[in-house]
Amino acid sequence: MKICSTIGELNEALKDRKDRVVGFVPTMGALHRGHISLVNESISNSDITVVSIFVNPTQFNNPEDLSKYPRDIEGDSRLLEAAGADIVFVPGANEIYPGGIDFSGPIPRSVGSARHVDLNGLDRYGEGPRRPGHFEGVVEVVSRLFDIVKPQIAFFGEKDFQQLAIIKHFTKELGYKIEIKGCPTFREDDGLAMSSRNLLLEPQKRRAAPLIYKSLIEAAQIARSAPHPPITPPELADITTKKIDSSPELKTEYAEIINSLTLQPAESWDEEAITLCVAVYAGKVRLIDNIKLR
Ligand code: PAJ
Repeated sequence: MKICSTIGELNEALKDRKDRVVGFVPTMGALHRGHISLVNESISNSDITVVSIFVNPTQFNNPEDLSKYPRDIEGDSRLLEAAGADIVFVPGANEIYPGGIDFSGPIPRSVGSARHVDLNGLDRYGEGPRRPGHFEGVVEVVSRLFDIVKPQIAFFGEKDFQQLAIIKHFTKELGYKIEIKGCPTFREDDGLAMSSRNLLLEPQKRRAAPLIYKSLIEAAQIARSAPHPPITPPELADITTKKIDSSPELKTEYAEIINSLTLQPAESWDEEAITLCVAVYAGKVRLIDNIKLR
C-alpha cells in the first residue's frame, strides 16, 4: 500500500492505471468498520482502490467540531493496509485548496476555487438548514478530489443519506463520468450507526445511543403496517422524536420524513420511496441516522 501526501506522488502511484478501473473512497479518517465496508466494496468492484483522508475545514460550520474531530493516521493506515487498499491519499490543505482557506466567516471557505452547483432543494431540509454551508463544502472537496483522483467509481455510505443524494446530483450536474455507489450503513452490535464521532461519546451517552436506531426501527414497523399506517408522516416523526428524547441523555434536533429522491417532506404514505432522517445530540456529540420506511 502506497501512502501519498501530494498530487505529484498520487499521479506517480497511479501512472500505470491505463485501462484499469480506479475505485475511490473519500473519508475524513478516524476510520471504523463502516469506512472499511466501503473499501471492501471498492476492492470487489475495481482494480485499484484509492482512499483519501482529509478533514475538510470547509464543511465544518462549527469550529469546535473541526478542532475536536478525531485524527489517527497511523491507526487508519494499519486498517487500510489490512483491508487491502492500494493507495492512501493524505493531502495537506494546500493540495486541495491551493488558494488557501479563509477562516474569517461563519464557515471556512476556500479562496478562489469554489464551484457553484444548484442543489435543487436537496439541501432545504435535514442537515441543510442546521449546518449552513456544509454541503457547499462537501461538494467543493469531493469535486476537487474527483478531479485529482479521476476514479471511475466512487463509494459513499447511506448513513449520510442526504450527502449521498447531493453527491449523485452534483456528479451529474457537473458532467463527471463517475459511477456513485451507495453502501449500506454499518452498525455496532447494539444498532448504533458507526461514526468517527462515536469515539467522543461519554460512557453514559454511548449506552443510551442505541435508542436512536431502535426508534427508527419502530417507526419503520408503523410505516409499513398494512393496509395503511394509522398516522401521518409528521405524526410518526413526532412519535420518533418523543421516543428518542425519552432518554435523558439524548435530544433530537430533527426527525424528518422525506421523499427519498427529492428530499422534500413526504406528505402522504403514497409516495414511492420514503426515508426517515434524524439528528440527535448526545451531550455535545451530534449523531445522524436514517431508515428507509418505504
Ligand atoms: P466520513 O464521515 O469520514 O465518511 C466517509 C464515508 O464513509 C462517507 O461516504 C460516509 O457516508 C461513510 N460512512 C460513515 N459511517 C458509515 C457507516 N457506519 N456505514 C457505512 N458507511 C459509513 O462523509 C465524509 O467523511 C465527508 O463528508 C467526505 C465525503 C469524505 C467529504 O469530506
